[in-house]
Amino acid sequence: MKFKEAVTYDDMLLVPQYSDIESRKEVDIGNNLGHRKFRIPIISSPMDTVTQADMAVAMYRSGGLGILHRYNTIAEQQNMARKVIDHTEWSGNVAAAIGVTGEYLKRAEALIATGVDILCVDVAHGHHYLMKKALTTLREAFENHVYIIAGNVCTLEGINDLADWGADAVRCNIGGGSICSTRLVTGHGLPGLQTIFDCAKTDRDVKIIADGGIKTSGDIVKALAAGADFVMCGSLLAGTTESPGNVITLPGTHGERAKVYRGMASKDAQLDWRNKSSTPEGVASYIPYKGSVVDVLLDLEGGIKSGLSYSGARNLDELRHKVEWARQTSAGTQESGTHIFSQSGRRK
Ligand code: XMP
Repeated sequence: MKFKEAVTYDDMLLVPQYSDIESRKEVDIGNNLGHRKFRIPIISSPMDTVTQADMAVAMYRSGGLGILHRYNTIAEQQNMARKVIDHTEWSGNVAAAIGVTGEYLKRAEALIATGVDILCVDVAHGHHYLMKKALTTLREAFENHVYIIAGNVCTLEGINDLADWGADAVRCNIGGGSICSTRLVTGHGLPGLQTIFDCAKTDRDVKIIADGGIKTSGDIVKALAAGADFVMCGSLLAGTTESPGNVITLPGTHGERAKVYRGMASKDAQLDWRNKSSTPEGVASYIPYKGSVVDVLLDLEGGIKSGLSYSGARNLDELRHKVEWARQTSAGTQESGTHIFSQSGRRK
């Protein structure tokens, strides 16, 4: 039997290259979605514990993009969009998610009428007949007046089909997110970095969004080096002042503060947004409270720019040309993480 080998973020490292970059200021990590320009290639996930209006505004001001989640009524989602538009002196770049069944077209029309100009067709298994129908319908209704992100897929055939059906950008990765249990429940998926290597072979004019499983700025650099144009993050941006939900003090700790972070297919989330739950494909958890997402994004931006300078690259194109990959052993992966704690057994 022939089967493919598939690597993910912790399996791989980028080999440092000769660099003449003297300051991170020389490094430009900007990218674009159509004519829309972004200073940082980071998008916040359309999840109800990640992106409502406050997160979308903070993402916009930090140079990235936030996608308003769809687990609400059309009126509630429109209100979020209005809040973003009021707070950002709207010049475009307001993004919101829709599904592929039921009222999705009505929702899309209402969002566009409110000022949303980027739609995200958001389903777990995007390489699907219902996605084809939805994308065809949306393109018939709005032609090229709206930018369309769609997903998720994890294969070259998947990204190519979605692009042919009308997607401008595609979210790539199935089941790799920190709160996902899709691979455990269904046995399906593909490691996240391999997904990007495979999808980056596309010859279509389509942007690649590496979605899920991104834990550090180092993972972001790896995704970009493998061919992603943007990354989409949930857990990295959850647990912040701007993410939805209250900060709580975890019982039985010395005052550790946290917020809820949950998969949209978790039992918890399903019960909240549709009053019933089918087999969950996600989990709900607490995530430590991190303060403002603006500071989190500044740290990520610094880390990504430093990453490019290690490859001697001033922008994403140069990174992809100069990149050299090394596969690490499990001992290498252990060495690549901070490991003083495992030696001393104590933390200061
Ligand atoms: P991270 O790792 O950034 O992942 O926390 C966020 C991404 O996970 C996806 N997502 C899910 N996948 N079950 C899944 O299998 C779920 O319940 C679920 N909720 C979110 C989504 O792509 C998100 O951007």
